[in-house]
Amino acid sequence: MRIIVGITGASGSLYAYTLIHALHQLGVETHVVATETGEKVMQYECGVDIKDMQQFAEVHDDKNLFAPVASGSFQTDGMVIVPCSMNTLGAIANGIGDTLLSRAANVVMKEKRNLIVVPREAPFHLFHLQNMTKLAEANVSIMPASPGFYHRPKEIWELINFIVSRILDGLNIDHSLIDRWGEKSNEPRINERTD
Ligand SMILES: Cc1cc2nc3c(=O)[nH]c(=O)nc-3n(C[C@H](O)[C@H](O)[C@H](O)COP(=O)(O)O)c2cc1C
Repeated sequence: MRIIVGITGASGSLYAYTLIHALHQLGVETHVVATETGEKVMQYECGVDIKDMQQFAEVHDDKNLFAPVASGSFQTDGMVIVPCSMNTLGAIANGIGDTLLSRAANVVMKEKRNLIVVPREAPFHLFHLQNMTKLAEANVSIMPASPGFYHRPKEIWELINFIVSRILDGLNIDHSLIDRWGEKSNEPRINERTD
């Protein structure tokens, strides 16, 4: 299995960091492309240099349009853009592919492969919503970075794992990152806790 992970300059690079680790642990061949701002936000929010991801994935330069993921002949099982900025979302919704990340997303769309975008912005304005509608109409999965709370999280990583597990589900990758709804959880509700 081969997956592309795009990282942009929206807040929430911890989602990408956790996803790349999980894909590595699950034995998935992973290709990573980060935008310039994506790299900077990851450094700022997680203290992680994108080059550190090379131990878990093949990391490509966003300016290198000669990279394999720029071509439809390079077979992949899908792509996720996490977190996805409104800037990159707008570019993809309008067919723009002048960077490796946006080109790879265009390729995944034209080859009718699985594209998941994880937008992060609040609030959305009309053009954001219109761009998301365009993508949804083109069969792109819009998976907002808005974790549920019904698994009664105590720590940030549980919220992160919630979204990462939904991404893995969307990529059809089997995992056991979180308890699924309907499975018994022993976690007390927040007002039942003593800690
Ligand atoms: C710390 C930080 C957080 C940001 N968070 C967001 C965000 O959550 N959503 C968003 O759309 N843009 C956010 N931005 C703005 C984007 O980084 C900016 O629009 C940039 O042009 C995106 O470029 P890219 O799509 O090439 O990564 C943030 C910028 C910074 C510096």
